[in-house]
Amino acid sequence: MTILFITGCGKGIGREMIDNWLKSDEKNKVVGIYRSIIEKENELEKYADRLCLVQGDASETQLLEKCFSSSKKIFNDLPQKYLVNAGVRCRSNIEDIKNDTLENLWNTNYFGLRKLLILLVDQSIIKKNISLVYVSSIVANVGFINLDDYGATKAAAESLLRSIAVKYPNSRFNSVAPGFTKTSYANNFMKNLPDLYDWTLSRIPTKRWAESKEICSAINFLLSNHSSYITGQRLVVDGGWLASS
Ligand SMILES: NC(=O)c1ccc[n+]([C@@H]2O[C@H](COP(=O)([O-])OP(=O)(O)OC[C@H]3O[C@@H](n4cnc5c(N)ncnc54)[C@H](OP(=O)(O)O)[C@@H]3O)[C@@H](O)[C@H]2O)c1
Repeated sequence: MTILFITGCGKGIGREMIDNWLKSDEKNKVVGIYRSIIEKENELEKYADRLCLVQGDASETQLLEKCFSSSKKIFNDLPQKYLVNAGVRCRSNIEDIKNDTLENLWNTNYFGLRKLLILLVDQSIIKKNISLVYVSSIVANVGFINLDDYGATKAAAESLLRSIAVKYPNSRFNSVAPGFTKTSYANNFMKNLPDLYDWTLSRIPTKRWAESKEICSAINFLLSNHSSYITGQRLVVDGGWLASS
């Protein structure tokens, strides 16, 4: 039995990972945090005895602690795999961004990871051969107009993970950096920014956005023992965007 802890599992990549993980082995279990809604919630009924979902903000220590105690209570164990996926975007001129937006951005994209790591240290879980994957973005290491702060949060989180990977070599800490991916974000993007959407298609060598399941495949690789000698790294899944920069 392997328990996967996922933040931001209500939709997009996180929601895809619930199905993916539970389908891949009938003994697998998921402890997940969702904030407002869970897409296709009725389809999860069949997994009721292998799924523990908690609602709230994944950047709050108390909620993370609640997930750990629920995991122990329901599944008799703590998660061995961690997917820090919850993320918010902010597309804005740097001078226009409001303080509360900035705070939310850093809390979710950076401090959520940091607080989880502190909990893993405090509870001595970090030395127990766990594997953690952070969902970053290609924006962490390439410039995009008006994604300044978003890119900065992802770059900071990747940097944090690299240092943690060096300090705790019994476990593994890696990032997946998706390019443009068809999630809830894609629908808004296509509808509200059609010119920008067309530009992204013309710019991606594969001429299409990623499917969520293609990001999940990379996440699964980094969570699994197939990547047992990989730690402190970022795996780019972008249809060739960065290669053609
Ligand atoms: N899609 C892309 O093109 C793309 C590209 C690069 C990187 N990424 C990264 O991939 C990750 C997943 O993105 P996605 O495209 O799947 O986005 P999505 O469809 O918007 O899903 C994100 C999920 O995270 C949840 N969430 C956000 N903040 C949270 C918080 N503080 N606490 C708990 N849950 C929270 C959201 O819940 P609510 O909706 O209920 O608030 C939502 O369920 C993000 O980290 C994103 O930055 C995505």
